Amino acid sequence: MESGTLLYEGKAKKVFATPDPNQVVQYFKDDATAFNAEKRGTIFNKGIVNNKISVRLFRLLEDAGITTHFIEQLSDREMRTQHLKIIQIEVVVRNRATGSLVKRLGFEEGMVLDPPLVEFFYKNDPLGDPLITEDHIRLLQLATDMQVAQLRQSALRINEILTPFFKDKGMMLVDFKLEFGDSNGQLILADEISPDTCRFWDIQTGERMDKDRFRKDLGRIEETYQEVLKRVCA
Ligand code: TMP
Ligand code: ASP
Repeated sequence: MESGTLLYEGKAKKVFATPDPNQVVQYFKDDATAFNAEKRGTIFNKGIVNNKISVRLFRLLEDAGITTHFIEQLSDREMRTQHLKIIQIEVVVRNRATGSLVKRLGFEEGMVLDPPLVEFFYKNDPLGDPLITEDHIRLLQLATDMQVAQLRQSALRINEILTPFFKDKGMMLVDFKLEFGDSNGQLILADEISPDTCRFWDIQTGERMDKDRFRKDLGRIEETYQEVLKRVCA
């Protein structure tokens, strides 16, 4: 495919128009960035892995009653999705402390967060996607108070569905980032769910099985992405 007009190009995906204005095609690239695109690289076949993992996880979530933008897989690197207005908030759920939480607030690496922590970030590249509070969200008019409550509730529900799924695959779901779209007032899960947007630690070895291998130059990046795909689709 990859035929319609290019509507948007992000760091890891392109979005193309389709003959139906209510639908778009998400094309997953191999490009990888970190630290607000200060670090750039390519992860061979990452686009294929992330598309297939996202397809599997969107289906899993749909079966569990979560509404997602996913319609169908079109090819190795493409899925058809609903065309939504994306809410400019990144919703992060954390089951363990790591990453920016440890840097920002000095939590001990790996500390269990129970109940899970929900954080909101402003999806804004020039500003470097800063952490924001609900008061900021209201002032910036990114979402209504009711939508913020729904974002939190939906993100925690998704955590409850994904955590046991990954545990069964020998992986700890440490944290993850979600994006939602708005369709006539209804919140719909959008974007992707992949090793780019989640942190997974191998339950047996503690090995990092996600984009932290790229962010921190841990090596064996391609092999690890393939291993995640193998486990998720097993
Ligand atoms: P953080 O610890 O760097 O804030 O990341 C929290 C989670 O969000 C982690 O699973 C990785 C994911 N994430 C993204 O999907 N995109 C981003 O731009 C960043 C910074 C994190
Ligand atoms: N994707 C993000 C960026 O390049 C950062 C990250 O995932 O760590 O800005």
